Amino acid sequence: MGGENRGVDLGTRFVKVAEGKTKVVYDYDADHYLLYFKDTITAGDGARRDVIEGKGVINAQTSAFLFKLLESSGIETHYVGMYDERTMIVRKLRMVPVEVVLRNIATGSIVKRLPIREGERFDPPIIEFFLKDDARHDPLLNYSHMEYLGLFTRREAEQVEEVMRRVNDALYNFLLSKGLILYDFKLEFGRLGDRLVIGDEITLDAMRVRENGTLRILDKDLYRKGADLETVRRSYEEFLRRITS
Ligand code: C5P
Repeated sequence: MGGENRGVDLGTRFVKVAEGKTKVVYDYDADHYLLYFKDTITAGDGARRDVIEGKGVINAQTSAFLFKLLESSGIETHYVGMYDERTMIVRKLRMVPVEVVLRNIATGSIVKRLPIREGERFDPPIIEFFLKDDARHDPLLNYSHMEYLGLFTRREAEQVEEVMRRVNDALYNFLLSKGLILYDFKLEFGRLGDRLVIGDEITLDAMRVRENGTLRILDKDLYRKGADLETVRRSYEEFLRRITS
């Protein structure tokens, strides 16, 4: 039984409010959603799609662990607790459809867009905003774009950047203590009253992590570069084991 089928079970008890490429959102109660992690993995704005048995459980556990780590550093996230091994109880946020990326080391889209060499270290880190829009391939946004489109005001964008830097300080040092280098990561934010709170997930689907020293890839770049699915699964599992031990 794949993780996609188990979602049907939740669907009989809760109203589905949204479904993305790797997660399903259900209405839990007045203040909470259930966030169900599927076994799917996708790349190229959903152009490639596969199922990795157990990935949803690994990602739900990974995200829960890292959200708790952030909360212990005083950074507010939507995480409340677990409903089951692959379903998270989260606070209802009004999500802003923007992907916020922080880069410590150059790789991925930035080395294709700008005259920057793979592996260059950014000090201070570079922060970028992208519109969540598969059809337009998630275009890069500046402050004026975000203000005009009603996404983040300039003031909010600056607050988000500050949270990104605090998250980076916490995650980078934690992962380094586990022998891992955090190249970059993506977060999404939502509104809770007048506050901006971290939503979505923190998993290897949304960050790049390399082994310190060997620079062995542990993250979704394995899948993007065409590694076999069992290699990807084992890597995600290894990451969860390393961070939780
Ligand atoms: O592709 P790019 O270099 O812009 O990705 C930067 C970071 O954001 C990577 O960690 C990648 O996994 C993440 N990302 C994401 N969802 C996207 C695009 C990028 O989680 N749609």
